[in-house]
Amino acid sequence: MKILFVASEAFPLVKTGGLGDVVYSLPHALAARGADIRLLLPGYRALLRQLGEVRILGWLDVRGAEGMVSARVLETRHPGFTFPLWVVDCPPLFDRPGNPYVNASGQDWPDNAERFAVFARVAAQLGLDALGLGWQADVAHAHDWQTGLVAAFLADAPIRPKSVFTIHNLAYGGYFSHSDFVRLQLPSHWWSPEGVEFHGGFSMLKAGIVYADAVTTVSPTYAREICTPEYGYGLDGLLLSRQYKLTGILNGIDTSIWNPATDAHLPAHYSASRINPGKRRNKQALLARFLGSVDDEALRAPLCGLVGRLVEQKGIDWILAALPGLLAETDARFVLLGSGQAIFEQKLLRLARQHPDRVFVEIGYDEALAHLIEAGSDIFLMPSRFEPCGLNQMYSLAYGTPPVVYKTGGLADTVVDTNEATLADATANGFVFDTPTVDAFAEAVRRALAAYRQPAVWRRVQQTGMARVFDWNESAGHYLSLYSM
Ligand code: ADP
Ligand code: GLC
Repeated sequence: MKILFVASEAFPLVKTGGLGDVVYSLPHALAARGADIRLLLPGYRALLRQLGEVRILGWLDVRGAEGMVSARVLETRHPGFTFPLWVVDCPPLFDRPGNPYVNASGQDWPDNAERFAVFARVAAQLGLDALGLGWQADVAHAHDWQTGLVAAFLADAPIRPKSVFTIHNLAYGGYFSHSDFVRLQLPSHWWSPEGVEFHGGFSMLKAGIVYADAVTTVSPTYAREICTPEYGYGLDGLLLSRQYKLTGILNGIDTSIWNPATDAHLPAHYSASRINPGKRRNKQALLARFLGSVDDEALRAPLCGLVGRLVEQKGIDWILAALPGLLAETDARFVLLGSGQAIFEQKLLRLARQHPDRVFVEIGYDEALAHLIEAGSDIFLMPSRFEPCGLNQMYSLAYGTPPVVYKTGGLADTVVDTNEATLADATANGFVFDTPTVDAFAEAVRRALAAYRQPAVWRRVQQTGMARVFDWNESAGHYLSLYSM
């Protein structure tokens, strides 16, 4: 089966969050099961610089905002990928520094509508083998709003591959204005509430939902949640009406990258049968990074870690509100890595200045430190208000670092609260709170800290998390059945 994967980021070339991880590891899992994959990415400056030898597959002229735009399509092999990469090289749209979606001051690039409309037009053309390469996709699988128009362009073609659209996060709708719609000369029959129109403008995410043959999202619980007003961002009615083609397939994790027994970023390795000596050495290295010298007291005290985008979704405000109380009542330490909204960054840095020996904050993006936090912390904090799937809690389970999570989306599908019953049936692997409040979060952290003080209980919770296999095998099977339906 030939599958054209279309996405706006892919680890290790360009990654802003979990989407990049999935766009790397899912196609590899599919390729391992015999699928013939091409992964199409925009030619951002940072990405082009990482490519070795490239072959020009051809040029496609498509409609942009001010007339026609010429895109060069490149093919390259990259040592990190077992299949060829295709790259849309269009310098006016993608050859610029920094983040794929926002400029240096965190504002959306003003021409995002054009950038991703052009990318989607090229993707749809390649899905139809417009360059005559003799590679005719059976399936075009696109991800998130940046590629939502792919299914819409394909829907207008008489003979075409099946289109699959995956929602990784409904909070990002790819909303643009009516004048963008006109300037980009998008087909006028799309402009209706049954098409892409959304509150006077249009939504690229909605286009994917409306026009794809199959829509998926990244956990079964999130698939249900997005059909309700609470989680639906105004698209719940549409999603409810499309339930016949909507499936929730849980993400996996790439166990060749996220595995405490082999992780190249860790000073010490460990596995479920012998956790402590290795984990302790990682904790020491993690603390040393912030403290210089690490005494026994710091090593013994529970260390709570967090890695993530510092946005409201991730419950950062709950953490900020709960920390002063937790610092006063307990001996816990906190290590937090992330970047995002300036206000959260500033507040976290202020807290770290106030408690230099107990709160460690690193603002920025640091892959190696993310691995060390997963391994060196005792408890992982992920109190997201909503979480389509979440990879970090699965990494923390695999690393023997039980997570504290709110019962939502993929967190609800992967984390089982620790209590008498779940300890007895050996399913307890973390700490779950089900009321969206600061107090409920703080209470769950206190329960985790209490369990940490009971070594036998703690080891069982850790081992249950480490034993659960979250690799891609099963989920890749679900995608393959969906492709062939
Ligand atoms: P989301 O996609 O909503 O950001 P996920 O939990 O699915 O959340 O995935 C987040 C991914 O991004 C993980 O691989 C995590 O390690 C990584 N990540 C997030 N922020 C950072 C950061 N500041 N430094 C390093 N890695 C990060
Ligand atoms: C999104 C979601 C996250 C999910 C990731 C990969 O960024 O916020 O929950 O794990 O995509 O699917």
